[in-house]
Formats: sequence, structure tokens, C-alpha cells
Amino acid sequence: MSIHKSDIKRITTHQLQEMKSRGEKISMLTAYDYSMARILDAAGIDVLLVGDSASNVMAGHETTLPITLDHMIWHASGVVRGVSRALVVVDIPFGSYQSDSNEALRSAIRIMKESGAHAVKVEGGSEIKKSVEKIISAGVPVMGHLGLTPQSIYKFGTYSVRAKEEEEAQKLIDDAVLLEACGCFSVVLEKVPAKLAEAVAKRLSIPVIGIGAGPYVDGQVLVVHDMLGITKDFKPRFLRRYADLNKVMTEAVTSYISDVKSSSFPDEKESY
Ligand code: KIV
Repeated sequence: MSIHKSDIKRITTHQLQEMKSRGEKISMLTAYDYSMARILDAAGIDVLLVGDSASNVMAGHETTLPITLDHMIWHASGVVRGVSRALVVVDIPFGSYQSDSNEALRSAIRIMKESGAHAVKVEGGSEIKKSVEKIISAGVPVMGHLGLTPQSIYKFGTYSVRAKEEEEAQKLIDDAVLLEACGCFSVVLEKVPAKLAEAVAKRLSIPVIGIGAGPYVDGQVLVVHDMLGITKDFKPRFLRRYADLNKVMTEAVTSYISDVKSSSFPDEKESY
């Protein structure tokens, strides 16, 4: 019996809420293309984030700032085509939602219409309240992102742990409460102390997803190229590598080059 796409129960924002309520952790990874999305979806991932980290891992930029709305839509549409079950969330890139709420809504609508994604993610709290409200009022689910928000890297000046001091921790809690009140369906906390993340996860009724935020949250997200060991030199403390694909791929390509050079590829069975 073959399984059709329509037989598979899709993950919804409502189901993520239920997972939090029954204490089931939410698994989330980034994906930027069709082939990777197919593999992650078939493995059973709950949420795929088309992160603006595509700017780093797919395009080689130092920061997430250069990626454009058109680039994000292109990446997202491939991911959506590769997915039968996972919820697909897309980052609205830097410069496409901060100036005013109408621009934010226009960007969110373009992502939803042109890629077929299921939700968007934005970085920040009170500063972007109007934009978050406007997007949600149009029926688009929004995921928040607090703590280390890479689109503000030039304000922070460093990628080190955020909200270690009382004042910044309090602002983060206030912003998380505000995002929930605005109607966000979930919030990502990046690189903050585990105790603070735990306090936020307990305080909010919506799911809190952590990256470098310790174990006491409702789910975890990692950049897929980091956890598969495709990237080599990025080694933050929070990252667990589940494979060394850099080694596997290097060995495969080295063998291919050697086979081509020695004329042992293709052989007769590989020829017409
Ligand atoms: O763009 C991204 O990959 C992200 C995750 C780190 C949460 O925002």
C-alpha cells in the first residue's frame, strides 16, 4: 500500500500547542531546499524553519543581514514542496518588517502566497509590536524570536550569551509575555541562560523553542548544517553534532575524483 501526501496528518500551530500541554517536546530544524526538507520531513521532524541563517550556510555571508525577501521566498518554496507533514515557518528577513507594520504585512503576505509556507518568524519584542499585530490580524501565524537575535548583531557587537544581567532578562520576559498577548503561536529563545528560558517557558502558555537555551523549554531547534556536521568550524557549546557529514562528503568526493582520474568510473555496467 502506498502512502499519499494527503494521508499524512500535517502539523499545525494548534497541534504544537497541544504538544506543550501534554509535555511532548517539539523538534525543529532549519531547512533551505527541497531535497533536505524531504529527508527531514520523512524522518518525522515537527517544524522546519526556513531560517535567514541561509544567508550564512547557503550563501557564505558573515551575517544574516544581506539575504532578501526574494531569496527567502525561493528557499521556502523548495522546502514547502519537500514536506508532507512538518509545519514550515519562514524568517522575514532584515529590512522587510522593521520600518512599518504595512511593510511587515506585505512581506508576510508575499511569503505565504509565493512560497506556500504556513507561518512566519520575526525577531524582537516591543519594538515590532505593531508589525506582529498587523501580520496576525491578517490571519498569518507568527513565531517570535528573542535573546540573541542575529539581525541585530551590529547592535550587540558579539554572538555571546544574552540576558545574563537582570535588566535585559526582565525585558526579555516582558517581550515574551507581550508576544504571547499579541497572538504569537510560539517564541524562539536563542542563547540565553537555561534558568531564564525555563522561567519564560513556565510563564507562557504558547510553546517556547530553544537554541542554546537549555533543556527546560518546550522544544529545540538547531541549524541543520551544524547538527549534521556539514559546517566544520562553528563549535558553540550548545551544539550537539549528530553526524560528521563533512568527513563523509569529503571522502566520497575524493573517491569520485580518484575514480575519474584513473578511468575506473564509469565502468561497463554504468555505460549504455
Ligand atoms: O535563522 C535561523 O536559523 C534561526 C534559528 C537559529 C532559530 O533563526
